[in-house]
Amino acid sequence: MRILITGARGFIGSHIVKALLQPPGRHELHGLSRIPGPTKLGTLLTTHVGDVTDPPTLPAACSGIEVIIHCVQFPNHPIENPRKGWTYLRVDGEGTRNLVNAAKAAGVRRFIYLSGLGVGPDRAEPWFRAKWMAESAIRQSGMEYVIFRPSLVYGPEDRSANRFLQMIARLPVIPVIGNGRQRIQPVFVDELAELVAKAVDLPAATNQVFDVGGTETYTFDDFLRTLARSQDKRCRLIHIPKAIAKAAAFPLQWLPTPPLTPGAVDFLTMDAVADTRATQEVFGWTQRPLVENLPRHIQVKAPH
Ligand SMILES: NC(=O)c1ccc[n+]([C@@H]2O[C@H](COP(=O)([O-])OP(=O)(O)OC[C@H]3O[C@@H](n4cnc5c(N)ncnc54)[C@H](OP(=O)(O)O)[C@@H]3O)[C@@H](O)[C@H]2O)c1
Repeated sequence: MRILITGARGFIGSHIVKALLQPPGRHELHGLSRIPGPTKLGTLLTTHVGDVTDPPTLPAACSGIEVIIHCVQFPNHPIENPRKGWTYLRVDGEGTRNLVNAAKAAGVRRFIYLSGLGVGPDRAEPWFRAKWMAESAIRQSGMEYVIFRPSLVYGPEDRSANRFLQMIARLPVIPVIGNGRQRIQPVFVDELAELVAKAVDLPAATNQVFDVGGTETYTFDDFLRTLARSQDKRCRLIHIPKAIAKAAAFPLQWLPTPPLTPGAVDFLTMDAVADTRATQEVFGWTQRPLVENLPRHIQVKAPH
């Protein structure tokens, strides 16, 4: 099958590419990237230069493609930067709509989308509105679709767990925005990638939406403590009340490269709990708990 993976250089996209290469040669893989040149996978993936916010760059990448797997996220997520066009609306919302239009015109049969947990028509936050816009464009396109809505995804090269692990290795106290009681269901990236690879040609997944989460629900504080224990460390947490973090972030949002925005504070402190019953039923999914995956897959380098 000829498959185009957008965000193929990214965290989740690159793991999906690896999953699709098992067994090798089963699919002809193409990647979409804003960056010219080969990826780490060399000739195993043909890279097309394109930007979802720039519609004329998309038809060539979609030409002859049977399945698209769309895993794009704006740089420095969840910190929006309107000056650079790095916003939910522009990249997730309008960008997905642009890609859907190009895919439809090229005769793509199936469109698989990495959305987010909690997306729905009644949610007011910009990330939910943009993802809903994206999901709606996909549903109304007439192409077959499969939509995945993951909770926090962790694994080698992720940005959240690895950043906290570095802090745990170096700092006596870890700052946490909010009260640390938001509930998350961290899912291992290879387990998500396995689902996406199966969804390429699984009839039972057609036109379905799947929540994706790990085997347990954690509070964010407990997630951090579990990360620390996986490295035989303990961590002391200091909570920065959400209102203070938002007030501090308010003026920062107008910097050329904001380190934090009020919207990012809201994103980072929300619940993300999945109902994975349909996912288990359709995919027959085997998962390991976080405590088993962490030491096997994430190793922190000793501080210098
Ligand atoms: N990570 C998580 O915990 C998580 C949780 C739930 C849902 N998701 C969803 O999963 C998807 C992938 O997330 P990720 O964590 O893998 O993101 P990531 O590591 O930041 O990768 C995103 C990729 O998007 C590409 N990209 C950015 N702007 C683009 C544009 N304008 N046009 C084309 N490509 C563009 C980048 O590719 P180039 O730099 O090569 O252009 C980058 O490799 C997103 O839809 C995200 O919402 C992620």
